Amino acid sequence: MIDITQQSKILVLAGSVRRDSIHRKLARQTVEALRNAGVEATLGDLREFPMPIYDGDLEAGQGMPPAAKALKELARRHAGFAIASPEYNGSFPALLKNALDWISRPAPGERPLEVFRGKVAAILSASPGPGGGNRGLRHLRELLEMMSVRGGSAGAGNCPVERSVRRRRPPDAGGGPLGFRRIGGRSGASRRTKGRSSSLRGDSR
Ligand SMILES: Cc1cc2nc3c(=O)[nH]c(=O)nc-3n(C[C@H](O)[C@H](O)[C@H](O)COP(=O)(O)O)c2cc1C
Repeated sequence: MIDITQQSKILVLAGSVRRDSIHRKLARQTVEALRNAGVEATLGDLREFPMPIYDGDLEAGQGMPPAAKALKELARRHAGFAIASPEYNGSFPALLKNALDWISRPAPGERPLEVFRGKVAAILSASPGPGGGNRGLRHLRELLEMMSVRGGSAGAGNCPVERSVRRRRPPDAGGGPLGFRRIGGRSGASRRTKGRSSSLRGDSR
């Protein structure tokens, strides 16, 4: 299984901009956990990238909106993604889909999906329903696969690592509710040189 902590720079996004959003908290915790694992991580708060609903006429007339351009540039500078997303009606929110759609658009002369191709992703949810956001993650995973994002075990092909947090616990409750589990217990020092056998863990204690 691909270990996102093997990547040098991870962009962490949340699929909600609500002030008290669980997933913004989860995203912040993910940044912290990644940094603790020695990875350079950036929080990309979608509230800071307000963009209209994708509209081909708007794109043709005015080009990519400035916030979409800025988010795309940010994504370009990162080797992978971690996305904490709520489940909305069995899928993931339009906010996230819209942002991903905009940044998937190629600039003139650019290859399609430039900022996604070959990158890795971990996806997380803590939605309060019985599935812990699992259905939403399934759709998000499919989308990322479509966008040529790698991840998951070798046997499963291209599939972002995913984790839903089934039993809710306030992400800001302390005690390291989110961490990165290293299968085989390798040390931090050997992390970048040995095999890729870790996974992202949402702690369900
Ligand atoms: C339009 C809408 C649809 C929702 N559908 C689901 C759902 O299918 N499954 C679920 O577990 N929660 C569902 N919820 C609840 C959200 O997952 C929950 O409010 C979550 O806390 C939102 O994430 P946030 O706290 O990061 O904003 C829905 C919420 C909204 C607003």
